[in-house]
Amino acid sequence: MPPTAFATVFIGRDEEIARLSGVLERARAGEARAVLVAGDAGVGKTRVLDEIAARAARTGTTVLTGHCVDLGDVGLPYLPFTEILGALAGDERFAAVLAGHPVVDRLLGGGPDDAVRDLGGRLRLFEGMAGLLADLAEVNPLLIVLEDLHWADESSRDLLRFLLSRGVLQRPAGGAPAHRLALLASYRADDLHRRIRCGRCWPSWCGCRAWSGWSCGPWRTPR
Ligand SMILES: Nc1ncnc2c1ncn2[C@@H]1O[C@H](COP(=O)(O)OP(=O)(O)OP(=O)(O)O)[C@@H](O)[C@H]1O
Ligand SMILES: [Mg+2]
Repeated sequence: MPPTAFATVFIGRDEEIARLSGVLERARAGEARAVLVAGDAGVGKTRVLDEIAARAARTGTTVLTGHCVDLGDVGLPYLPFTEILGALAGDERFAAVLAGHPVVDRLLGGGPDDAVRDLGGRLRLFEGMAGLLADLAEVNPLLIVLEDLHWADESSRDLLRFLLSRGVLQRPAGGAPAHRLALLASYRADDLHRRIRCGRCWPSWCGCRAWSGWSCGPWRTPR
């Protein structure tokens, strides 16, 4: 899946690219990692993620991107994940893996309603999503990019928390290698209201050992 297309040349960011390349390299070797890239509006978060995603795609990594959108307080449930699933459903290379996790169909408009309504259904949906990502990472190393987490609706934040705390970043039981997966997320840190809302996710995100964050400064140092 192609990342965002920027018309201009990518400048600088050697340190950030080296750091994220290291994360991807370790993920390819089976050390699953997640990194939150936080910074003010327009500092260049998307551009860095776009560059790293393009590099990952060139080395055979499957890149899946989901965007959160500012739709007010309620939002659309699971929006960035429905984008990811939509992209997978449109690519026949992933048909077999997707077919192995029919519970996630609910996010594509099919499947039983209980998958989003009751607690048991939500758990099955979350486990289905974790299983799907783990299976995708078996086929090829996997990079998930989640853009603009400050706009994530509550259900997306819950699913992300589940994936980070119980799901794909954990080493499977029985000594099997961890999933070849990296999750990179961008987050606008300059809006107080959103920061507080997103901040509710922080304790469990930070409690996850494979999760780290860095602050993205301006992409060009002011003269
Ligand atoms: N390293 C870079 N090289 C060239 N252009 C850049 C670079 N970083 C950012 N830009 C340009 O600056 C603009 C803003 O960058 P970008 O969209 O990545 O910011 P952002 O932090 O994702 O903003 P937002 O919070 O609004 O999503 C874009 O036009 C982008 O092409
Ligand atoms: Mg952006």
